[in-house]
Amino acid sequence: MPVRINPSILAADFVNLERDLGRISSADLVHVDVMDNHFVPNLTFGPQMVGRVQDVATIPLDVHLMIENPERWAPGYAELGAFSVTFHAEATSDPVALARQLRQMGARAGVALKPGTDIEPYLELLAEFDQVLVMTVEPGFGGQSFMPETMPKLRMLRERALKSGLDVWLQVDGGITEETIVTAAEAGADTFVAGSSVFASEDPAARIALLRETAARHSH
Ligand code: DX5
Ligand code: ZN
Repeated sequence: MPVRINPSILAADFVNLERDLGRISSADLVHVDVMDNHFVPNLTFGPQMVGRVQDVATIPLDVHLMIENPERWAPGYAELGAFSVTFHAEATSDPVALARQLRQMGARAGVALKPGTDIEPYLELLAEFDQVLVMTVEPGFGGQSFMPETMPKLRMLRERALKSGLDVWLQVDGGITEETIVTAAEAGADTFVAGSSVFASEDPAARIALLRETAARHSH
């Protein structure tokens, strides 16, 4: 199974963003964390900034919306050309309608679940999404520790995806290092977000390669 490594620019230098995007050009996608200080207690950037990232990035954008009212904002990210737009299940009452709208606009549609959110209701809806993001930390901040107790959700998702023959990407986000990526890959993840472990490295390209090789060796 192919694996993808998506560095999160939350850990980049915001005043040297173009330089830092250059350092991760060997990655698969660039993970862009949008936070509104309501859904999570932190604030990052919005459509104007992400639009500029889209202009200069050489790899596709994987936008992770940690915001309230995603119905209002998510379509704008599809509109500006994001390859993938992921919103939180906890923030909307109709995830299927929003996913359909995003797909119609040409983006991949993703649904994200906080560590405490049950996966069961979404297993039945898997065909409606191109990606499911299982948060492996509480959303809001980089540099937190991976929560292994979220792994049963991945195992359930992988089993259901295999059984139904769906090519849905299973993403993990939070605390991914060369150690925890083994646990996540073995549980069934194929798409790995890594913020601090990539950008704190002296050689981000080498770190991306190491994460990719490690995940591939342990993936299904
Ligand atoms: C956290 C964000 C993550 C964050 C991960 O709410 O969604 O994408 O950047 O950072 P690390 O890899 O440092 O845990
Ligand atoms: Zn994220």
